[in-house]
Amino acid sequence: MRIILCENYDELSEKAAGIVASQVMLKPDCVLGLATGSTPVGMYNKLAEMYKNGEIDFSQVRSFNLDEYYPIKKDNDQSYYTFMRENLFSKINIDPNNTHIPNGETDNPKAECENYEKMIKQSGGVDLQILGIGQNGHIGFNEPDASLNSYTHLTKLTENTINANSRFFNSYDEVPKQALTMGISTILSAKKIILLASGASKSTVVAELLNDAINTSVPATMLKTHPDVILICDRDAYMGTKLGIDIGGTNIKFAVVEGDCVKYKSSVKTERTCEGIIEAIAKEANSIKEQFNIKKVGVGTPGIIKNGMVTSVNLPFENTNLEKLLKERLGLPVTVDNDANCAALGEIEFGTTKECDNIVLVSLGTGVGGGIIMNRQICHGNNNMGEIGHIIIQTEGGRKCPCGLCGCWEQYASATALIKDAQAAALENKESVLYGLMEKNSSRLDGKLIFEALDQGCETAKAVFDKYIFYLASGIESLVNIFGPDAVVLAGGVTKQGDKLLAPLKEKLRGNIRIEISELQSDAGALGAAML
Ligand code: GLP
Repeated sequence: MRIILCENYDELSEKAAGIVASQVMLKPDCVLGLATGSTPVGMYNKLAEMYKNGEIDFSQVRSFNLDEYYPIKKDNDQSYYTFMRENLFSKINIDPNNTHIPNGETDNPKAECENYEKMIKQSGGVDLQILGIGQNGHIGFNEPDASLNSYTHLTKLTENTINANSRFFNSYDEVPKQALTMGISTILSAKKIILLASGASKSTVVAELLNDAINTSVPATMLKTHPDVILICDRDAYMGTKLGIDIGGTNIKFAVVEGDCVKYKSSVKTERTCEGIIEAIAKEANSIKEQFNIKKVGVGTPGIIKNGMVTSVNLPFENTNLEKLLKERLGLPVTVDNDANCAALGEIEFGTTKECDNIVLVSLGTGVGGGIIMNRQICHGNNNMGEIGHIIIQTEGGRKCPCGLCGCWEQYASATALIKDAQAAALENKESVLYGLMEKNSSRLDGKLIFEALDQGCETAKAVFDKYIFYLASGIESLVNIFGPDAVVLAGGVTKQGDKLLAPLKEKLRGNIRIEISELQSDAGALGAAML
């Protein structure tokens, strides 16, 4: 089974319509096996649009629908007969005489099924079968059972299907309890099959389809016996509800994400030992698991990750296999990545740069951290790519960095560097507002006080800040030259100053650099981790 993984429902519909259109172009009198349900509606809309634009001609196409409720009048709003007319047939130039749907009005279902099967054979067989998938794994109306029917037959609907489909009817009672459906062999005799799955409600069954052996409790697994099946699914159906965890020095943040939606957020304190951290994560994550149908977990952690082993100077991890430890405690698949990488991913998935494909995240804190996203993917390089704080911006007489190099960007552009520089300048200019503010604050400066001094027109603070902006801009220019991102996103405490930082920085940078301040800030890590 081939898989086409789409970003969203629109892309899924586009891809599926493309395959159907190719089939019709290659063989204008082909036989299409059509499906109902909400999933193929987008694809039908795209096909109707293509027909309207003169790109595709259905005049010779023949079609057989998978199934129909039983009993049901053709003119019932919820009959598949009405569905096909409204969603496709009335919008394209298919000859109504060439379209076939099992007759839900028949009083002889057995004869109807035999005849339907005969007609499919006489047509030469289905060239391309379109399928949706029920939450319980049914295809057509082939419900999970100890044994499955081969050919078109009358079947009883399961409780699960009646419930799922009651959303289209006024009440559960109105849903017909039986249906006429192509059998598994009928479906498998199609030359080519595309199976569409969209939305988190399908993630469990998609996982079963992909992971389970062929079995009659998940009828869709029968498709694995066919040589030409393509599963086209969006990310929600493929990944389901995800939990992101961001391990920080002070707090561990949790975020539950379903599609574009953030369903839940929480945080716990970071313990001092590795065991304590694992324990705290397991406790919170397992309680989240009780509320949400979590399918996978992503974890962001500071440090370097090599062959799955985490080593961090800020946390008690040394060659720690976080992935394995958490997998054991949570009973779910776990992926671990660097926290700055996760934050960058969070920015491109949920932040103000959502529509970009390439961004660089620059986080200005104790050091300068970052993550690089190209084509919406984290760039890992050999292992610790993205250590942008250590690009060298000063060659001769550069400031010493604990990494062993001199002149590293974070020695100039981090919040720590800004404060250090301001402190030194204040001590040299004891008449300045900056010095006065420092003295009032027990001889200590922080970022806020520097901006307060700037607001009061302090020349000393201004000189320090201008230099800081120069340093910041130098590094950003280099990053832009190397990566050519659509945008650079700034995060960290200093960026809370908003325009006071952004306006002078923009003035220093060349005009074509898009620069944004993160709106997600410290939430980005957990959100991005969920999307790993
Ligand atoms: C219905 C149909 C199936 C369809 C499935 C999923 O009951 N008989 O052919 O694939 O359920 O429907 P939806 O796409 O609305 O989730």
